[in-house]
Amino acid sequence: MLKNKNILIGVSGSIAAYKSAFLVRLLVKAGANVKVIMTEAATGFITPLTLSTLSKNPVLIDFTKNKEGEWNNHVELGLWADALVIAPASANTIAKMANGICDNLLLATYLSARCKVYLAPAMDLDMYKHKATIDNLKRLQSFGNGIIAPGNGELASGLFGEGRMAEPEEIIEFLEKQFSSSLPLSGKKVLVTAGPTYEAIDPVRFIGNHSSGKMGFALAEELASQGADVTLVCGPNSLSLTNKNISKIDITSAEELYNASVKAFKNADVAILSAAVADYKPASTAKQKIKKTEATKNIELVPTKDTLAELGKLKKTKQLLVGFALETNNEVENAKAKIKKKNLDLIVLNSLNDKGAGFKSDSNKITIIDKNNKSIKFELKSKAEVAKDIVNVISKLLNPKSQNLKS
Ligand code: CTP
Repeated sequence: MLKNKNILIGVSGSIAAYKSAFLVRLLVKAGANVKVIMTEAATGFITPLTLSTLSKNPVLIDFTKNKEGEWNNHVELGLWADALVIAPASANTIAKMANGICDNLLLATYLSARCKVYLAPAMDLDMYKHKATIDNLKRLQSFGNGIIAPGNGELASGLFGEGRMAEPEEIIEFLEKQFSSSLPLSGKKVLVTAGPTYEAIDPVRFIGNHSSGKMGFALAEELASQGADVTLVCGPNSLSLTNKNISKIDITSAEELYNASVKAFKNADVAILSAAVADYKPASTAKQKIKKTEATKNIELVPTKDTLAELGKLKKTKQLLVGFALETNNEVENAKAKIKKKNLDLIVLNSLNDKGAGFKSDSNKITIIDKNNKSIKFELKSKAEVAKDIVNVISKLLNPKSQNLKS
């Protein structure tokens, strides 16, 4: 969520300034670009060298960079930032911000910043409770600034109470939430199925397929990066996830996939079923390993439950259902028939006849067809890019103004 975000950290004079070193380190680790502005008072608590080393950028303190009078452009800094986070925000800095006072670089940047501004107050218990501070914070909130509430605990004065700056981890969590709430799929719940299913013959053997799960995992990552809350129901795989907004449910058989998906679909806005589910399973599973001597040449098979078809029956008006079709012949006709048969909104067709498309490959070539038979053909792309294309089409459908695909 914080990857490639430009974060401007303002550090004002408070003992909690030591925590800003951890905050900068965590932000850089999360992939953010970080610049730091300190007030003169803050330099008495932590050295600019510490923060410039951790942020990998020079720390800015004065209006001018050097004796020649080259200035630190506070307007540019304010425009560069996706967020200005003042942590710690001392009682003095809060009071100046609330009253438009502009006697240092941090305050000038605050006044000219067009991005969201968040502040993490840090001060002694009585200062925090003083009517002047309470009024100043209310005033800042009325300007649209976000307050990252301080914690309760032992303060530098030895007193116990409110006023301890929020921990760096809490500030990171707060920022992640703020950024995710402005994303296009924020607040949407999406179910994704991925990977193969294994249908047990006996304790050591199964009927399975070559699906790697890569397409479904790429979809889950893309959806989560656009703010969706994703439930990923996946069969056996060797993949890993990076986004924390994905809840993974591991399953093995088609029956387990069915049960987990039907449950998750109840609260979902969208379901994308990319799993390669076995269509048949052994009529019974042997409790012991079947010996060569006792094996019959035939295994009786029975159909598995069709999760996509069931979700098509359960689907409510506002829910979107997306299926996948892997075909070898009469691709488009077969895919269109599946839309009707399973009550889908969209189907993602990939053909085994296309080079670079299919199970284990890192790339895929798809055509998306909607329930009105409008279709879009895409070029061969990496599965991550294919996931972007699919998610963009879904995003447009979630916006009531655009109901159909452009053919
Ligand atoms: N699917 C499912 N549960 C099953 C079988 C399939 O949820 N038991 C889903 C797949 O995840 C995919 C879609 O159904 O999204 C298409 O699967 P496919 O096996 O191609 O379609 P079938 O209806 O089984 O038709 P056929 O095998 O004849 O092509």
